[in-house]
Amino acid sequence: MRITVPDPERHETDLGGVNLFDTALYTDGDPHTVWADMRLRAPVHRQVLPDGRAFWSVTRYQDVNDVLRDHNRFTSRRGTLLSVLGGADPAADMMMVASDPPIHTAMREPMTKVLSHRSLASRSPAIRLIVQRLLAPLLDGGTWDAARAGAGFPMAFIGTVMGLPQTDWPELTRLSTAAVAPHDEEYRESDGYGTLAAAHAELFSYFSAQVRRRLRHGGADAEEDLVDFLIRMEAGDRRLHHDEIVYNCYSLLLGANVTTPHALAGTVLALAEHPAEHRRLTEDPSRTASCVEEGLRWTSPANHIMRHVTADTEVAGTVLREGDAVVAWLGSANRDERVFPDPFRFDITRTPNRHVGFGFGPHYCIGAPLARIALQVAFAEIAELIEEFQVAGPVEHLASNFVAGVKSVPVTARLRPGAAAALSRALASAGPVPVPAVRR
Ligand code: HEM
Repeated sequence: MRITVPDPERHETDLGGVNLFDTALYTDGDPHTVWADMRLRAPVHRQVLPDGRAFWSVTRYQDVNDVLRDHNRFTSRRGTLLSVLGGADPAADMMMVASDPPIHTAMREPMTKVLSHRSLASRSPAIRLIVQRLLAPLLDGGTWDAARAGAGFPMAFIGTVMGLPQTDWPELTRLSTAAVAPHDEEYRESDGYGTLAAAHAELFSYFSAQVRRRLRHGGADAEEDLVDFLIRMEAGDRRLHHDEIVYNCYSLLLGANVTTPHALAGTVLALAEHPAEHRRLTEDPSRTASCVEEGLRWTSPANHIMRHVTADTEVAGTVLREGDAVVAWLGSANRDERVFPDPFRFDITRTPNRHVGFGFGPHYCIGAPLARIALQVAFAEIAELIEEFQVAGPVEHLASNFVAGVKSVPVTARLRPGAAAALSRALASAGPVPVPAVRR
């Protein structure tokens, strides 16, 4: 998605013509100007699509939080992405993200322990090695595409956490993006809906085979991974059945794959465009964690989350009817001037920074600890090795109203003194990427 900066003096968006559904808004348009005008003049806005389907949009931080925190008024059971607007969600009550408490809580609680920061911290050295390999092409002074390099980054941690064979990683990366950007020309086969259906079918049959294979081999061992864990975990007083395991595998894979690369590449782009902020990072690497948080706010890789109204209700004085779809625009909430002073300034030490990049409420991203570890390792390495990035060609954006993504971010880098030698030494002495087991 293009990260545009609105002109504070101009609020001329024709709100009747706003089309937040159209993927072109995010590749070629000016989404932040549209949202800024909506926050000011139409914070709860209804859009009707040409085929009659309709949805409400909330764009202010407070309204986004109110919708996401309250599963009694706003259910996840009818799908959480605009791409399924108007249909039933076949994963309702089976996939964590498409369920409400108490079913949701029973599935989420055991998984939270496995995906906690404490269980995952031991993965940092493996992730660091992966980051060093990703950055290696910068050693020869050539152009490095942060988006293309970053696309495979999440598989290196979610793939190992889930125990998926490394040979499958590239195809799983491709299918994940096809599932969320089926209309993008790079992924579209036949029409967008066919692409979406094909990607879903392939991912479900892949995980179905993974689950069947593990059940055939039986018995948990010391190397138990996240898929084994899902097979054996107790959700309340029972185990998950086959389809529930498959849906949740799918959700964990997509959750990691379609978001983290854009936080990585988008933050690299922000550092290239704001060299003074990059300097502040290299001068004081203890700013890495807050740099990552600002990168998450700035890029807001998950652009929207949808809910459905369970009974007539009001949001900020507007009446919403039972069954209406309501979309919380995270990218807009994260620029709300009521909450973030000077929201269009990229500030790696922004404090406080209560962004909603990982959502809010009961469905707050369960992968946030893993994403934070991975991104902090990546930017600590960048702070140590790279003095400055320069944009080296046109940035390409993903055609998606859900993922605020980039397909190409070509950069060159000026390395810090001694960095090339240090990176070469680290890469030469490293063995294969270690794959630690899930610790509980
Ligand atoms: C920068 C990286 C990430 C971003 C921006 C992100 C964003 C989000 C958001 C906004 C939600 C809330 C969805 C909702 O309310 O309906 C969410 C939920 C979720 N995310 Fe992430 N995510 C990231 C990384 C990950 C990773 C690494 C994983 C896998 C380990 C993951 C797995 C999930 C799952 C399974 C849920 C559903 C949680 C639930 O329903 O309780 N995400 N994510």
